[in-house]
Amino acid sequence: MHTVTLIPGDGIGPEVTAAAVEVIAAAGIKINWEIADMGITALEKYGTPLPDEAIASVKKNKFALKGPVTTPVGKGFRSVNVGLRQALNLYANLRPVKSFPGIPSPFSSVDLVVVRENTEDLYAGVEHNIGNVAAEAVKIITKEASNRIARFAFQYALEHRRKKVTAVHKANILKLSDGLFLNTCQAAARDYPDIEFSDRIIDALCMDLVLAPHKYDVLVLPNLYGDIVSDLCAGLVGGLGLVPGANIGTEGAVFEAVHGSAPDIAGKGIANPTALMLCAAMLLDQLGETTAAEKIRRGIEQVIEEKIALTRDLGGSSSTREFTEAICRAIV
Ligand code: NAI
Ligand code: MG
Repeated sequence: MHTVTLIPGDGIGPEVTAAAVEVIAAAGIKINWEIADMGITALEKYGTPLPDEAIASVKKNKFALKGPVTTPVGKGFRSVNVGLRQALNLYANLRPVKSFPGIPSPFSSVDLVVVRENTEDLYAGVEHNIGNVAAEAVKIITKEASNRIARFAFQYALEHRRKKVTAVHKANILKLSDGLFLNTCQAAARDYPDIEFSDRIIDALCMDLVLAPHKYDVLVLPNLYGDIVSDLCAGLVGGLGLVPGANIGTEGAVFEAVHGSAPDIAGKGIANPTALMLCAAMLLDQLGETTAAEKIRRGIEQVIEEKIALTRDLGGSSSTREFTEAICRAIV
């Protein structure tokens, strides 16, 4: 039996992770879940939103399924997510964005993958006040991290039969930092002659994505642009409730949705658990349980396409529970 860390998280986290756990069971896979607290829940229990116990659990089990956590604002805490990614060196954030048939969204048949660098850039957390008149944040781009994420993107493209990789940057203005990122991607591209390579300036890419997302295949971006473009891409296919993600490092992976803890709908039983269920499928792929992963994906697609149940964000009126039960029935 596999042992995997389960981080229920805050807000809608416990609701959507519970739904993901249910579909894994419905697909016939037994997992020994080791529960770990992070976020507000952990803050109340341990006095810190990112307890060492939780990090140790992920380190030991190598894999975690994680709900979103709320970062306490204005209390001097750093982001739990950034802290976790740095503690485990989860350097790549992989976010496959795919249209579902039958969902009202700006486009159909979008199929692209966002590969976001996960450890540096403005998220390195080097920020300080200059007296009380200004504040400064440092954008850190290293050759090592840029090379690692570029190669991750090309390797992913190769293994998943993708055709193109596009590096996204603002090297025309940030000549040194984004320039280094771009040059490093260009150098990596030479080792992957079968994958088409191009680059795009971030603002132009954003316009292009909302006009013609089909032009793109795999996008590789520094941390901040990757964060923003992920949400934009989620919008292309019908919203944050649908896009899963994986934070991948050399020693393990943490699977979590692109969306946050959605305090506006937390506790109401109406959150869309699709993103977390797709995270569950990505986790099963990593555990070698690819048949079960495929069953989950097909179950979700069937329920959404045939409108057997739809949550409110997808234009339906089903609760998280009703939607989850429909998918569990579709899986078996
Ligand atoms: P959010 O993603 O939580 O919510 C944005 C909007 O999308 C809200 O209207 C929400 O109701 C809706 N939404 C999100 N997920 C949904 C789902 N599964 N089903 C239906 N509707 C959904 O972003 P927001 O409000 O900016 O952030 C809230 C908190 O989450 C903040 O404390 C933020 O720091 C945290 N956060 C945590 C993340 C993580 O743990 N990985 C990622 C992003 C934000
Ligand atoms: Mg984000």
